[in-house]
Amino acid sequence: MYFDTIIKNGTVVTACDTFQSDVGIRGGKIAALAASLDSADEIIDASGLYVMPGGIDSHVHLAQPSGDGIVMADDFASGTLSAAFGGNTTVLTFCMQERGTTLRESLKAYHAKAEGECYIDVSFHLVVTDPTSYVLGQELPALVEDGYTSIKVFMTYENLRLRDDQILDTLDSARQSGALVMVHCENEDAIRYLIGKHERNGELAPKFHALSRPAAAEREATHRALSLAEIVGTPIVIVHVSNRQAMEEIERARKRGSKVAGETCPQYLLLTADDLDAAELEGAKFVCSPPPRDKESQEACWEGLQSGTFELFSSDHCPFRYDDDSGKLNEKGKRHFRWIPNGIPGVETRLPILFSEGVSKGRIDINRFVALSSTNHAKQYGLYPQKGTIAIGSDADITLWDPHKQVTITNDILHHGADYTPYHGLEVVGWPVLTMLRGRSIIREGAVQGTLGQGQYLRRTRI
Ligand code: URP
Ligand code: ZN
Ligand code: ZN
Repeated sequence: MYFDTIIKNGTVVTACDTFQSDVGIRGGKIAALAASLDSADEIIDASGLYVMPGGIDSHVHLAQPSGDGIVMADDFASGTLSAAFGGNTTVLTFCMQERGTTLRESLKAYHAKAEGECYIDVSFHLVVTDPTSYVLGQELPALVEDGYTSIKVFMTYENLRLRDDQILDTLDSARQSGALVMVHCENEDAIRYLIGKHERNGELAPKFHALSRPAAAEREATHRALSLAEIVGTPIVIVHVSNRQAMEEIERARKRGSKVAGETCPQYLLLTADDLDAAELEGAKFVCSPPPRDKESQEACWEGLQSGTFELFSSDHCPFRYDDDSGKLNEKGKRHFRWIPNGIPGVETRLPILFSEGVSKGRIDINRFVALSSTNHAKQYGLYPQKGTIAIGSDADITLWDPHKQVTITNDILHHGADYTPYHGLEVVGWPVLTMLRGRSIIREGAVQGTLGQGQYLRRTRI
């Protein structure tokens, strides 16, 4: 059999197996796995490397309008290029419904931004902020049929949050159409109460962002979201979980029989609220929600990744420039934490962090790494087995990984649009050396080989 490309001499890793095999690729698909394959236009030597399914990051914000002169630091071009450098071949980004508009109108705008602008494949979660009867009764069922099979709802942020009755209606519509609901769990009223208190005390520095969004506000909202989902009978994903109390809510709901997936992110493994207390306004670099907590919470999140409380490890890449009037240090943000845009960059560092801190340090094995960073995302969001595994017939989305390569993370080696990385100075062991999308190399040895526009939009199935 003749192939377009053969990856030779590598160690293939999936979510369940590790084995020596050559990989034959034809027409953008994996066509053969065998001890020795020889005839191809191109042969890539993967001696000493892991051959893994390309990373799938199911929680990425790109080109989102952020209001008030604030501009997100990545569009689809820079964000997907940065993701590819980090070993990813698919990102699931968010399409935000602006209140007063329909989901279709928002989608039209996001498709226009992404069309021809992606280095890797993309798909959209729908963020429902205005659940009118038209949106829930007409639009959502038709959009799910069209392959938009996941939605996100917020319990915080005044301009995004849904009330409980709205969440129930949205969960019910999702249940009927077979969509999966992702929930951002923080109690907005409690947060506003605490912000008011800090304001009255003149406590306006970045560290008060963390103090105004305590674990109890996340735990309460997590409990409520799980209870509402249980009442309606809808599967949900609790996204960006930061601490043990919220994890315990997920575990308890599972014991009651609820279908719930949990997600955590690098910031909850490596950062703490102390980072928001850095000198001058440096703490603004770490402002995200939920905020990073403490060492015990980091330990809890590792336990959750090991035990299965978390099946998803995502970046929640939500990049803003730091030293910039349209970013973290906008005029109002310099004076009051409330106006510092929430979110940090991380799409390029997600996999190296999980590999280095997880696999290289012996906290998880390599198969769990693949599950947490690729396979489970494909399964959860309706892309499996086209994506997320190394199997005959799957897309040849492959990352070659050097498990011994040592890299010190600094912003100048990254490719996102932000002017900083929250992980500056972190030394990692393990780095992606080739990222391939549907059989074509996009990144090889740190150089771009792919072309803008080779990433495609992905329709997804219901789970
Ligand atoms: O601070 C964060 N996480 N910003 C991104 C938006 C979100 O809630 O996921
Ligand atoms: Zn969120
Ligand atoms: Zn997010």
